[in-house]
Amino acid sequence: MSAQFENRLPFPAPARSIAVAHGDGIGPEIMAATLRVLGAADPGLTFHEVPLGLKAYEAGHAAGFTPEALEAVTRHGVLLKAPLSTPQGGGYKSVNVTLRKTLGLFANVRPCVAYHPVVPATHPGMDLVVVRENEEDTYAGIEHRQTDEVVQCLKLITRPGCERIVRHAFEYALANGRRKVTCMTKDNIMKLTDGLFHAVFDEVAAGYPGIATEHMIIDIGTARVATRPRDFDVIVTPNLYGDILSDVAAEVAGSIGFAPSANIGYRASMFEAVHGSAPDIAGRDLANPSGLLLSAVMMLVHLGRGAPATAIHNAWLRTLEDGVLTGDVPAAGKVRRVGTQAFADAVIERLGQRPERLRPVDYPSRAEAVPAAPKPRLAETGRVPADKQLEGVDLFLHWDQDGRSPAALGARLERIAGPEFTLELVTNRGVKVYPGGNPHTLCSDHWRCRFRDAGEASPLAITRLMARAAEAGLDVVKTENLYRFDGKAGYSQAQGA
Ligand code: NAI
Repeated sequence: MSAQFENRLPFPAPARSIAVAHGDGIGPEIMAATLRVLGAADPGLTFHEVPLGLKAYEAGHAAGFTPEALEAVTRHGVLLKAPLSTPQGGGYKSVNVTLRKTLGLFANVRPCVAYHPVVPATHPGMDLVVVRENEEDTYAGIEHRQTDEVVQCLKLITRPGCERIVRHAFEYALANGRRKVTCMTKDNIMKLTDGLFHAVFDEVAAGYPGIATEHMIIDIGTARVATRPRDFDVIVTPNLYGDILSDVAAEVAGSIGFAPSANIGYRASMFEAVHGSAPDIAGRDLANPSGLLLSAVMMLVHLGRGAPATAIHNAWLRTLEDGVLTGDVPAAGKVRRVGTQAFADAVIERLGQRPERLRPVDYPSRAEAVPAAPKPRLAETGRVPADKQLEGVDLFLHWDQDGRSPAALGARLERIAGPEFTLELVTNRGVKVYPGGNPHTLCSDHWRCRFRDAGEASPLAITRLMARAAEAGLDVVKTENLYRFDGKAGYSQAQGA
């Protein structure tokens, strides 16, 4: 460690214990390297090992961790986690998914940075952060098979879920000197679900007048990230899009071995490299510890330990600049190839130095603000419940008779509709096939039949309609009530109507 470093930093910082999972495969090696750098830069830290991954699976815990481990993570509030291997087969669950759900890790934050000219990059100057919603969307894990031919996955988007992730993106932008937040959705198609995400983005953005905002449709947005990544700063997006986009962005940056991530939650936050446990190179001192080290930097920033975070990050940049690299990193110019532990030594030697060609960092000594947990009840939010009017019901049928003739099905449905409802339309895969419809529309065995209130709609009337459908031999596999909220339809219209 340089004498200059020892003189510059305001230590000792307050003591802080961190929960640490050493992981599988290359995990123990890169964690050892990372902890040595952390120990050198921030002597106030102590580390508490928690058994996650193979150790826990082998001890008979299918979730990949013990209840004690979970308790320790919650008590510490932060977990620095090396990659874990998920055994194939045997009913094992992914630890990451379980931790995400159990700890409510709602925000996945992934900086994607190009380190040109040290590491040749297609897009020099790329420096963006993807903030991905981590719990909702199609990842809620609610899927059903309803007919011989049709399965469905429920896409769940909630207002509190949108509020906290969007707020987190803006708070992140503020804390890290970022100037713009881009929202990406597909609300031209999914007007209710993605529409809510976009609407909440606009509402929350109004509270951050100093930060520029824009919205892009996810497909063109992803294409632009691939071709013009310098146009972006912070990107906030729902779960599925974020999953894809963050990998595209990391790949474009050209340095997946460098990529760190944070998973922010209310009860605890977890910091880990983006890559996996790389069993092919485990135990050979070949692995690049950078992804985990930069995740540790994100953890220090999260905790408000700005000085050591700044020192480690700048020393790491300086190490790259000096051409000290592990074998996996493509590089231009004069390079000294080193192993995992020698790389950590090189970073420690440079603590207190700043890069000269790559852009240095300066982190604030203020703990990152995590948005308050959503209020459990609407009344506590100050928001008034909407005026909700029932105006019909969609019955979903499994029906494979009469050559799948929409007209034949329509006729049967007309007979059971009254007195409370009238049959408005039938769709197949979202496309209107009755009344009217295009004879060439491909029809599956799954039909959505919309019944409109004829003046007597009520929950009881719906059960009577379902009873009539059952008596007529129709197989109702699911229903969705049609509501109007404050005069606005809370359901989508049929396509091709
Ligand atoms: P992987 O990321 O472990 O490996 C892909 C390739 O990149 C391999 O050739 C590997 O040698 C190389 N690589 C990865 N990290 C490296 C590093 N730090 N330095 C140098 N080279 C590196 O992905 P893979 O092979 O699909 O998964 C292996 C295991 O990791 C699986 O059990 C998987 O479930 C787990 N995994 C765990 C994750 C986590 O804990 N967050 C994330 C992704 C995968």
